[in-house]
Amino acid sequence: MNSNVRPETMERITTPALAEAFIAEQVALVREQVGNKKVLLALSGGVDSSVVAALLIKAIGKQLVCVHVNHGLMRKGESEQVIEIFRNQLDANLIYIDATDRFLDKLVGVAEPEKKRKIIGEEFVRVFEEEKAKIEGISFLAQGTIYPDILESDGVKAHHNVGGLPEDFEFEGLVEPVKLLYKDEVREVGRALGLPSGMVDRQPFPGPGLGVRCLGAITRNRLHALRESDAILREEFDNAGLTGKVWQFFTVVPDFTSTGVKDGKRLDYWPVIIRAVNTVDAMVCTVPEIDWAVLKKITDRILNEVDGVCRVCFDMSPKPIATIEWE
Ligand code: XMP
Repeated sequence: MNSNVRPETMERITTPALAEAFIAEQVALVREQVGNKKVLLALSGGVDSSVVAALLIKAIGKQLVCVHVNHGLMRKGESEQVIEIFRNQLDANLIYIDATDRFLDKLVGVAEPEKKRKIIGEEFVRVFEEEKAKIEGISFLAQGTIYPDILESDGVKAHHNVGGLPEDFEFEGLVEPVKLLYKDEVREVGRALGLPSGMVDRQPFPGPGLGVRCLGAITRNRLHALRESDAILREEFDNAGLTGKVWQFFTVVPDFTSTGVKDGKRLDYWPVIIRAVNTVDAMVCTVPEIDWAVLKKITDRILNEVDGVCRVCFDMSPKPIATIEWE
């Protein structure tokens, strides 16, 4: 299956049995392609790279070298989950790189959104290349390319994507076992491989991560407020049974303050904005009605638990005209 065109006869993977058959077929193909050589994979913890990692672990075990780069812009607990699942549970060959300081230092004072994206993307490639140079005898590069990436390779995703690696990478070949699958099929395969729902059914998360939600020039304390408020939002949406019902939700922290008052003193604290959208294709979105009590609980928790925040707002704007992300 070297072609980038999905055969019309290829059955849609909609059941565990079909997923198992796909896995068995790919395990055999990967073993044949790779032999006893080593394969490198950038494992972000997103659905696609996680499913590829689990599939390749099944096929070639420790011949797969996973590199997880924490760019300091991950959501709360995300890198820890990658380590727990892949290193501790699946016994993967996983290299964890905490590159937080490198990324945040590069981003100091950079306010322009596309410039932030570019810096994060380029730094990611640099860190990954440095790591590759340290590992002996890597022959193949594995990638979590999926069919929509191939179909839209000139479109939004390619422009957005952070994991995009340079073309002059010297590998014997690419290993892209899910490149002909649609997202729902990748999830089905992930479930069949035993990955937890929190990973397989994960909502989309931009490559530049929290970097595009900490508006303007990123500062560490605002990033902290963003990560903590996002974690509270996710926890409370989970408690309210909204995870899986709302397509994407997160918080945003702008780069201006607003007036608050505490113990009779006026304060300059940040607002936190809640963004929640429903969509089929991310091109047109609606804003779901969220139960008032849920919003109130989230607001109370953010105001009580997150330092530096004095206000919580809910973004009512559909796409178009507002994009999903704030920048
Ligand atoms: P927008 O904000 O354009 O977002 O309505 C549409 C979808 O794309 C995600 N998004 C990104 N994904 N890198 C990514 O990998 C990016 O730079 C990026 N910007 C937006 C966004 O989260 C939404 O799901």
